[in-house]
Amino acid sequence: MNADPAGVGQLGDRAGTVDVARERAQTVGVRSAHHLNAAGAALPPVAVVDEVVAHLRREEHEGGYEAAAAVAGRIEELYAAAARVVCAAPEEIALADSATTGLRVIVDALRLNGSSRLLVSRSTYVSHALHLLSLAADTGAELVVIPSGADGAVDLERLERLLTGGPRDVVCVAHVPTSSGLVEPVREIGALTRRSGAAYLLDATQSVGQLRVDVGEIGCDALVTTGRKFLRAPRGTGFAYVRGAFLERLVPVAPDVRGAVWTGAREWSLSPTARRLETWESSVAGRLGLRTALHQLLERGIDVTGAYLASTANVLRQGLAAIGGVTVRDPASSASGIVTFTVDGLEAEAVSRRLAKRDVRTVSVPASHGQWDLGWRGVPSVVRASVHVYNDDSDVAALLDAVAEIARGAVQR
Ligand SMILES: Cc1ncc(COP(=O)(O)O)c(C=O)c1O
Repeated sequence: MNADPAGVGQLGDRAGTVDVARERAQTVGVRSAHHLNAAGAALPPVAVVDEVVAHLRREEHEGGYEAAAAVAGRIEELYAAAARVVCAAPEEIALADSATTGLRVIVDALRLNGSSRLLVSRSTYVSHALHLLSLAADTGAELVVIPSGADGAVDLERLERLLTGGPRDVVCVAHVPTSSGLVEPVREIGALTRRSGAAYLLDATQSVGQLRVDVGEIGCDALVTTGRKFLRAPRGTGFAYVRGAFLERLVPVAPDVRGAVWTGAREWSLSPTARRLETWESSVAGRLGLRTALHQLLERGIDVTGAYLASTANVLRQGLAAIGGVTVRDPASSASGIVTFTVDGLEAEAVSRRLAKRDVRTVSVPASHGQWDLGWRGVPSVVRASVHVYNDDSDVAALLDAVAEIARGAVQR
């Protein structure tokens, strides 16, 4: 086995202070396969799973409401931890079951109309795009896809020209998309939106947990993210940030008993905090798992995590680029833990299936998950490999060796 096909050295040299051996010891999933799918759903650490299972057991014994009351303090700690991770205040955090739900509730609460303009990045995720397209069709709001530059990222000059000034413009950008390792220039976009008065909604689903996300520095009005990806939390968890002053603009379409009080026969009042966007029912066990995952991230350090993921992904990109018949599909502005590629003569799905047979877990991302990116670039699908702190040299070598073998086979057929 050629463990270093690209000759780019071992990850240990670049590992910073991530204790990869420790992370692996605390991650059961690394024992059965080379898991390179953090951008789909990362492997959770043992402590996160233990927390979830313990709460389910507690519910079994005490009942769901009684168990929830017993851990109410820990759920409050979750708001504080989420706030710390994105540098916000706990009152600016709303818990949600996914990033999609979080963004939908926020966008709906903006009450768009025929004079609204939605300026969306090419990096927009399928479910968000479909929601915005459907809203534009219903309300008559204009939807404009912001052109990207040669590096694949939002073209800032074009964006500046598109902004008309004032709150009727709503800018929606994915920090890191589902379809490549691209990192959008979110701070520069924030500077433009602040200057023009546009609302700025950031989809940080693929960045929170792997990149430094400081909502003050970025200047976004709202942000959504999910638990199961780079945060390594359970499925069905996520959270949103809404800037205090921006909250006043948000009037939920479907106020819920969690975020509103039914004060009279035809009156209700909304929570003064971001919790006005929440719904009552949730998986308390999942949220406790999210709290533990956030605490682990804060303990490990976001910058350390980000540096390790970016350098590991870089090793992968360079290794893949050195294999004949393989094309790395990431644009120039790629600095995240996501790597995308194609193999000549084989559909991405077939490559991903063949990798799985060799115990290397990746996914294929079709253009239908990102028409404004992959569809626009004319790439029908890509194989996506995404790394986390539990991935080591053995995972990198396994992917590169397996891809080389698959690419050779594709040429010989
Ligand atoms: C960039 C991006 N945004 C949003 C989502 C949706 O996240 P969720 O499934 O938690 O709603 C995804 C999921 O893959 C994504 O990659």
